[in-house]
Parts: sequence; structure tokens; C-alpha cells
Amino acid sequence: MELSALSEGLQALPLSLQLASGAAVIFLSLLILRVLSNAFPGAAPPVDEGLPFVGGLIKFSKGPLPLMTEMYAKHGEAFTIPLLHKKMTFLLGPHVSPHFFNATDDKMSQTEVYNFNVPTFGYGVVYDVDQRVRSEQFRFVADALRTAKLRTYVPAFKMEADDYFSKWGEEGVVDFMQAFSDLIILTASRTLLGREIRESMFKEVADLYHDLDDGMRPISVLFPYLPTEFHRRRDVAREALRGIFKKVIKARRDSGVKEDDILQVLIDSRYRNVYSGRATTDDEIAGLLIALLFAGQHTSSVTSSWTGYRMLSNPKWFAAAQEEQRRVVREHGDKLDMDVLNGMDTLHLNIQEALRMNPPLIMVMRLAKESFPVTTSQGRTYVVPKGHIVAASPTFSHRLPHVFKQPDEYQPDRFLPPREEDKPLPFSYLGFGGGRHGCMGQNFAYLQIKTIWSVLLRNFEFELLDPVPEPNYTSMVIMPKACRVRYRRKKLVA
Ligand code: HEM
Repeated sequence: MELSALSEGLQALPLSLQLASGAAVIFLSLLILRVLSNAFPGAAPPVDEGLPFVGGLIKFSKGPLPLMTEMYAKHGEAFTIPLLHKKMTFLLGPHVSPHFFNATDDKMSQTEVYNFNVPTFGYGVVYDVDQRVRSEQFRFVADALRTAKLRTYVPAFKMEADDYFSKWGEEGVVDFMQAFSDLIILTASRTLLGREIRESMFKEVADLYHDLDDGMRPISVLFPYLPTEFHRRRDVAREALRGIFKKVIKARRDSGVKEDDILQVLIDSRYRNVYSGRATTDDEIAGLLIALLFAGQHTSSVTSSWTGYRMLSNPKWFAAAQEEQRRVVREHGDKLDMDVLNGMDTLHLNIQEALRMNPPLIMVMRLAKESFPVTTSQGRTYVVPKGHIVAASPTFSHRLPHVFKQPDEYQPDRFLPPREEDKPLPFSYLGFGGGRHGCMGQNFAYLQIKTIWSVLLRNFEFELLDPVPEPNYTSMVIMPKACRVRYRRKKLVA
């Protein structure tokens, strides 16, 4: 009786009011459903949204680190933040991480979460192809980065570093981040893109790379094709780079001359299980070169910079690295090859600890294609639902005090016996990720950073003019803010 009176009352309203009341009823129902499903996640990790529908975005807008800090304090190692119609589950720390890193791509997929890279890397490669093709393309990359090849890249690292630092004066002020970015694009050009580009097209390629890089901003993760000026310049730069790379590839194929660089390995690669076993196309090679530039450029220059800042603000460790160089010079003279670099344990520990404190990648992500259970350090089991975006965080996990003692202190010996804090649980140390998609360039990166710092330690002394910089969390790759360092040329006496 009351319902029919209500219905008659509604029908008496003008059509616009009827529609508005209908929309309000639908919205209220959705709101109630959303609040209820957030409040009772069942076996899934706790959901924290606050204001329904937009609360997650508001939390996220403060930055992922404040968000993780607040949510971890509230919910522990596993929790979910709704982002509009998507849900993002954070898994923080080694106890909840094995499935994230070990699962096959059909269970934990990268394609959907990393395909914002497609307009940067280009089409037909990496996140624009299905997983079978991608794994073959990554096999080509793995070939280019295997030990025997790495050995041949070290002279190029050394040559570029010697040349670059020879242009510094007797004394001056530099910003490590700026200097190492400039140097590493030179070494990357030589080892990755090849002699031809390094020697005759470097400036043009570096400028185009700059535009491509500038076109990848935090907003590009959500809207990679947003019609903005920086995306337009990105697209122009990608096409221009592709054109240059393709010319070089053609000239090299025509000449029949083989070089010792990553470009050559990619030119000589053939698919095995897809594309009827054909060779790589020039377009694919160009795309893979761009992807590798992106994987290695900022990550390596950021880590080289933090290694410097951390050693300089911990004089005991700077002195230990100098002492190691004295020993190495006594034993090997000026020779700096892969074996000599691999013997620099103290420098290695410094880089590893700098990367623990300041990893350039704040989050790595996957899409859960199937639900999976995780068990926290407290023994609580949750089931992460299929369809959630799942995130792990090197930045946050590296500061967990139950994994790394006094995590805010620079203690490179935490990786040595008897402490070996990264060892008891896999995925404690995530500087290079881990598991199925761990960094392919890890050894390349260590060799490159060790070469740079060997040349610096042997030829200069330094003084930090500013406090150790804060990380800039607004960039895609987390970089140190500006910091002035005074250098003075001084030969290390062995
Ligand atoms: C200090 C320098 C570097 C750091 C900190 C670093 C870090 C990482 C991390 C954390 C991942 C895992 C991403 C994920 O799980 O989603 C990764 C993947 C990767 N890195 Fe690096 N990286 C560095 C240098 C390099 C260099 C120099 C190269 C190549 C020359 C490279 C090539 C790759 C590739 C190809 C992958 C993808 C592996 C896969 O998905 O199977 N990286 N890197």
C-alpha cells in the first residue's frame, strides 16, 4: 500500500525529477555496496578506502610512500587500496612476496600494468607483444648481457669514464646526479647503441632521448596517450630515434662487420618458438634498444650518485673503499677489467647498501590473473583476489626493521657474515627485483658503477657542500634532489 503510494507519488513528479531520483537511488545502492564490500573483505586483505570511490585516489595523491607508511602501520604487510574501479593490493616484506616474484606470467602478469611504456619503447616489442614473444625478446637481451659479453663492455666503461673525468678541472663543484647522467648516456651509447652512434650521432641521439624521457611522467602511467605537448614530443622523438637506429642497423648489416656491443647481439638474434624462427626486424631491434636505455640509464646514474653521497657522509666507508683501491692498484696497476672489478668487495658492498637505502624504483607491479594466498610474518593468511593490481616496494621493504636492523643507518657490512640480513628470507633485498623477472642488467650495472667509482676514487677527493639530499619522489625513477659536491684532483697513492 505504502509502496504503491510512493510509486504513484514518483510518477506525479516531472520526468527530470524522476530521472534524478532514480540516479540517486542507484548511486546510494552502489555506495552502500561499496562500503559493505570494503568493510567485509572476507579472506581478502583489508581494504582501506575512506571516502567511497575516490578515497583511494586521494590517499594515493599524497604519494605512494606516505600511503604505504600509513597503511602498513594500520594493516600490516598486506592491504588493498581501491583506485576508482580497480583495486591495488600492496604486499610489503619478504613473507608475503614469494608468489609475486616467482609466479609465471599467466598467473602474475606484467603486460597490463607496464603497457604504459608502449608509446615510449615503440610497437612490436616488450609490453606490446604477448608473453611468448616477450620471453624470446628477453632471451636476446640475456644473451647480450651474459658474462662473456659483459667482459667486452668493461673497456668501454673505462674509456668513457677516463675521458669524461679528464675534462673536469683541478678543482670544482658538481652535482653527481647531473654528472653521472651525462656520463652514463655516453657509456650506454657505446655499449648498447654501438660505436657508430657514439662517435657520429651522439648529440642528436642524446637530445631525442631527452624528449622521449621527458614524455614519461607519472600521469603517463594512467593516460599514456593523453594529447599533451610532452607526449607529442615523445612520439616525434621515438620515431626519429627509430629512423636513426634503423639506418645504423642497415649500414652494419650491409658492411658485414661485427662489433662487440648489444646492438650486434640483437641484430644476430633469431626467434625460436614464434614468428617461424625468423630474425629480429630492424624495428624490433630499435624498440629493444630504447627499452634497454630506459631500463639502465636513470637506475644506474641514480645508484652511482647515492653510492657517492652515502660513502662521503660515512667517512669510514669512503676510507675503506679508497684502501681497497690502493690494494687493487698495488696488485694490478692501472688494469681495470671484469676480474679486477669483481674483486672489489668493499665497493660492491657500498653500492649494494646505497641501493638498499635509495632504490630508484619505488614500486614494481603485476596483475593477478588468478587468486593466490599470502601469509604474513604474524601467520595471518589472506587470499589476494584475481583482477587486483599487486605492488611490491623495494623502497618500503628495505626499511623494515624486522628484516634490516637499524634500517635508516648506512651499514654495508649488514650483507657480510655473520649478519647477512638479506639472506634468511628470499625477496628481502629488492634493489634489482628478484625471481622470474629479476633485473637482467644487474651485473652490467655493478661493473659500470664500479668502473666509475674506481676512476673517481683513484683521481679525486671530495667534500659534500650540502647535506645528503632527499629523494625526489615525484619523478618516475626516484632521484636524489640537487646536492653540491666539491672535487679536487688528487692521485691516490697506492
Ligand atoms: C642500478 C641499476 C639498476 C637497477 C636498480 C635496476 C632495477 C631493476 C628492477 C627492480 C627490475 C625488476 C622490475 C620488476 O620486477 O617489475 C629490473 C628489471 C629489468 N632490468 Fe634493471 N636495473 C638496473 C640496471 C639495468 C640495466 C643496466 C639494464 C640493461 C642494460 C637493465 C635491464 C633490465 C631488464 C631487461 C629488466 C626486465 C626483466 C624482466 O622483466 O624479466 N637493468 N631492473
